Amino acid sequence: MLKEKMLDALNEQLNFELYSAYIYFSMSAYFESINLKGFANWMRVQAMEELTHVKRFYDYIIDRGGRVKMSEIKAPANEWESPLAAFLNVLEHEQLVTSRINNLMDIALELRDHATSSFLKWFIDEQVEEEASVDEIVQSLKLNENNPGGLFLIDKELSQRTFMPPQDITI
Ligand code: FEO
Repeated sequence: MLKEKMLDALNEQLNFELYSAYIYFSMSAYFESINLKGFANWMRVQAMEELTHVKRFYDYIIDRGGRVKMSEIKAPANEWESPLAAFLNVLEHEQLVTSRINNLMDIALELRDHATSSFLKWFIDEQVEEEASVDEIVQSLKLNENNPGGLFLIDKELSQRTFMPPQDITI
């Protein structure tokens, strides 16, 4: 059974993962509106991945006999100044997610909740990957800020991203 402090923190993060998906769907719509279909695709895949993160927290809370509680999700922005501004926003958001996951791990360690520490390890590793891949795109965008041809090539590259449902998650 999860201790109350741990359960509340896990539920909060479950809702924050939904907020992440909400932001990325909004960014995808922004990119559709400026006709950057590859960027829009990347964001849609990102949003879908966030939903699988929601599912991981959902299943884990249930598996530990806890009660999942949904809460209000604040509205994301709908417009950004440029593709670079949007991706800087993604990087900032993912850094915030990383610090939140680290806080969850701190709580699990404080409560000597070894099962939750083990569960969170997946997210610790995932955040390293997420920040690295977003940072790579930010760097490319910075190099091509005033180069429409470069932006076109990045858009083409981002159109290749596909959503791969994780093998260890079921509906
Ligand atoms: Fe669920 Fe992008 O962290």
